[in-house]
Amino acid sequence: MNIIPGNASPILSSRIAEKTGGRLIEVEYRRFPDGELYVRVKEVPNECVVVQSINSNDDLVYLILILDALENSDVTLVVPYMGYARQDKRFLDGEAVSIRAVAKILESYAERIYTVNIHSKDAESWFRKLENLDAMPLIGERYKDKDVVMIAPDKGSLERVKVAAKYAGCDYDYLEKKRVDAETVEIFPKNLEVEGRDVVIIDDIVSTGGTIVEAVKSLEVKSVEVACVHAVLAGNALNRIYSAGVRKLMATDTVEKAVSEITVSPLISEVLQC
Ligand code: R5P
Repeated sequence: MNIIPGNASPILSSRIAEKTGGRLIEVEYRRFPDGELYVRVKEVPNECVVVQSINSNDDLVYLILILDALENSDVTLVVPYMGYARQDKRFLDGEAVSIRAVAKILESYAERIYTVNIHSKDAESWFRKLENLDAMPLIGERYKDKDVVMIAPDKGSLERVKVAAKYAGCDYDYLEKKRVDAETVEIFPKNLEVEGRDVVIIDDIVSTGGTIVEAVKSLEVKSVEVACVHAVLAGNALNRIYSAGVRKLMATDTVEKAVSEITVSPLISEVLQC
């Protein structure tokens, strides 16, 4: 298996290569003085797997350039973190449905696409060739046999937390969340039996950290940890989260950050080998 490591996913690419016995192909990534990006894939195979998360505009442009460089190859695309998926519908007249635009571009190049915990069913629905993988079992296993309660910060995350809690073998519940704007959320506590317990807040994405900070404020618990799939961690999110009293934040390596200690490579390697 020939693996093309995207600029945003070098560690995960090498983990997938190790698990599958695949070969990493070297890619040159460069930025011109005016800010434009450049890609050269040093060897173009007949068939390959591209691994690239989209956690910034540069990541997206680099991905399009990689796919273009591979125009004569049969490409399986792995986008571990599918950015732009939160704009999955037109909320206001005149808005772009960003994930639809991304889907059109990626599907025009790739034969098949895999991602991990895409943000919503609506986002997923814009793709025809996409398979969405679930990292919640991997997160749940990290807490196996630990005396914790898993909490979803909103009802939308309830299905995810159910899966993680099943693999951990622990209790779960959820909070009521209302988004005021892109940076502000309000959390309404439910009548949870968590007082004095160790809580793990489970989410798909931690971006600004606003959701986590508000969730922590609404809980009166012994200790709080956070586990998420995608550690987007925009701006000083990590600082906000730790200052709010979170003991630990743990994420997968769909976005490669210092906190990305759970690898999704087994999940991805398995589907690539089918
Ligand atoms: C929202 O529906 C998601 O599941 C996350 O809760 C949200 O994207 C987190 O964003 P932030 O960290 O900016 O509050």
